[in-house]
This record gives sequence, structure tokens and C-alpha cells, in this order.
Amino acid sequence: MNTIDQESALLCDLTKIRAQFPILHQKVNGKPLIYLDNAASNQKPVSVIKALEYYYTNDHANIHRGLHTLAERATEAYENSRKAAGTFINAAEAEEIIFTKGTSEGINLIASTFGRKFLVPGDEILITNMEHHSNIVPWQMLCEEKGLDLKVLPLLDNGEVKWDTLESMLSERTKIVSVVHASNSLGTINPIKAICAKAHQVGAIMVVDGAQAAAHLNIDVQDLDCDFYAFSSHKMYGPTGVGILYGKRNWLEEMPPYQGGGEMIKEVSFEQTTYNDIPHKFEAGTPNIADVVAFKTAIEFIDGIGKKTILNHENLLLAHASKELAGIDGLRPIGVAPHKVGVISFVLEGIHHFDLGVMLDAKGIAVRTGHHCTQPLMECYGLEGTVRVSFAIYNTIEEIDTLVESLESIVKKLRS
Ligand code: ALA
Repeated sequence: MNTIDQESALLCDLTKIRAQFPILHQKVNGKPLIYLDNAASNQKPVSVIKALEYYYTNDHANIHRGLHTLAERATEAYENSRKAAGTFINAAEAEEIIFTKGTSEGINLIASTFGRKFLVPGDEILITNMEHHSNIVPWQMLCEEKGLDLKVLPLLDNGEVKWDTLESMLSERTKIVSVVHASNSLGTINPIKAICAKAHQVGAIMVVDGAQAAAHLNIDVQDLDCDFYAFSSHKMYGPTGVGILYGKRNWLEEMPPYQGGGEMIKEVSFEQTTYNDIPHKFEAGTPNIADVVAFKTAIEFIDGIGKKTILNHENLLLAHASKELAGIDGLRPIGVAPHKVGVISFVLEGIHHFDLGVMLDAKGIAVRTGHHCTQPLMECYGLEGTVRVSFAIYNTIEEIDTLVESLESIVKKLRS
């Protein structure tokens, strides 16, 4: 196929893809909705919405507890989601997948269990300047509790980490290296496999915040050789309230439980409790069964299109938007690394990002404004916040053109 054929084939599929998202077909403030806030949370295809309805209509019961038919069906559906999540990231076995309520909880779990058990005063945790608060605050809390040091890798102006500082920041005191796979504010994709290898050379473990990567990039945890990889269903066309934490079996077995309660035990007496096997040791209490079950349908949605097609399409949107936005008078992009997912942050001279967000909303365009839960990153650029547009498989070139025209007309009005 030549380029034009490829583009029209994709546009044809896009019509079919968009038809699967009921929420996109509405007007907001009298204008057709243009949803460009996918990095915060993306929309759900009808298959995922129906999976939730099907589960509650036909199969719901508590899991791992009852012997009756519904309990068995619900347990099987929940465990099938675990298998699907494991396959999605190429985990060696499904038992290495723990369901949490989100990426933040996954990282908190590691800090509270691995961190409390294995780190001692004077040990160091290494992160980067582009981390989300979820990959800063749990480590700060652990550092305060245990007398550890938090070290931060600096950034280059273009939004890449200054990786040539990595070796000098790593030492035998480094016990955890925790890095975002793709930045939610800048879009920068980090070279996780290479960082893992360096972390392991000094005996540190590697934690990856994959929240912004999972819907876009191919994830192979065995190839990356990371020790932990955390991500969220709601940023990958699945329900909210489901996080996925991958951990290597040896660590999960050695780590103490995260919370106490039902399901995470083998036997309880007032004298002593023995803990369940992994992954159940880390899933105290009744989990978010329905949303976990429907998460499998979200994985099937992504697999049905294919990560390669998703990435190609989003790269097309990213290239077009980057070029067109650059032509707007006074617009400064924040983060122009060569390898990015479909995220563009920018500021517009003389207009506060919040005002711009409100003006775009009046035109039916949903973007995120503010610090995007990355205040230290904003500080590095001397900013309070940015406007951020972020893409998903259902976004179109026409939507980007409307965004650009809207921004141009806002600029014209305000400067006239
Ligand atoms: N972490 C989400 C974002 O980037 C909420 O918007």
C-alpha cells in the first residue's frame, strides 16, 4: 500500500473504532466533543461497558470463597483477567500479577513491603526529575521513615533525562531505581531496558511506572528485566479502580504482605497467622471483581487493533499536531524529546493555562491544564503548569486541525 492508501485504510477503520465509543458522539457546549485528555483517563469501548453489565447481570458473587456455581464463575473470570494481564506484558506466570486499585497503589505496595523489609538507613532510592507524584511521594515517605536518601536524575531542556549522569548517581548504596516508562507531562519515552541493566549492576532493583506506556507501547517485562512494573486499567480503555502490579516471583515471595485481612491468609489463630501464596498474599479483602473482569475485555480491545497500529496512528497524530502547533504565535512546547508517546504539553505566551483550558472547553475540546501531578518537573521548567493534549486510537487529524484553528482564533482575539 502507498502512503495515501494506508492513511485512507486507517481512516476507514477509525470510523469503525470511533463507533465503538458512545461517549464520543455528543456535543459539549454546543460543539462536537473533541476528547484530548487521554493521558488522564481514556474512554471505554462498548465491549468494556457491556462486559461490566454482563458480569453483574449473570456471574457476580464473591471470589475464591464459595463453592457454588456463581462463585466459581466469578473466580474463573477474575483469574482469567490475571492470566490476560500476564500475557499482555509477557510475565513468566500469572501469579506474578497483583491487582491493586491503580498505579499509585502498586508503587505504594512496593515501598511499604519491599522498602520496609529490605532497606536500611543510608540506602538510596534513585528517581528522575520527570516522575509523577505517585513515583515520588511513596519513596519520600519511606525515606523519612527509614532514614534513606532520595536521589534525582536531572533533565535536559528537551525533556529527556540526562542519562550520562546515571552511572555517577548509582552506587552500592542504591537499592531501588524507579523510573516512569513514558512521562505523563512530556510524553518522553525512557530507555527502561538499559536503565534496568545498569541498576542491576550495582545490585539495585528496578521499578517501572508504566501508567502512560501500557496503552501505547509494547511491554515485555522479561525482555526489560525489570523487577516491578505498575500500570492502570483506566488509561488503557478499561474500567477505573484497577491497577496491575507485576513483580518477579522471587521478590513477591520474599516480601511481607501489604495489608492484613481476608483472602491473604492460609490460617489464622490469635497466636499466629500464616500467609497465603502469591498473588493472594497481596490481595486482602474483596477486590474490585467486576472492573478486573471487564479489564480483560479492554486488553482484548487493544489486542484486536494491535499495539503496532495504535502506535503508528498515535505517532501520525503526534507528528501532525507538533508541526501545526509549532506554527501558532507565542506557543512554546514543553518536552520535545525524539522518542515520545502521544502527549504534547505547551504554554502560550500571555495566556494562563487554566484560562486556555476553559476557552477550549467552551469549544467542546477537552484538554488537561495544570501541573499534571508533576510539580518538581514544572519547577524545572520554571512553570506552574501547562496545557496538555494527549491522544488515543480514536482521535483524528481533523480533531487536531480543529484544536489548532481554535487556538489560533483565541490568540487572535486576545492579541487584537
Ligand atoms: N496521571 C494522570 C494525568 O497525567 C491523572 O493526568
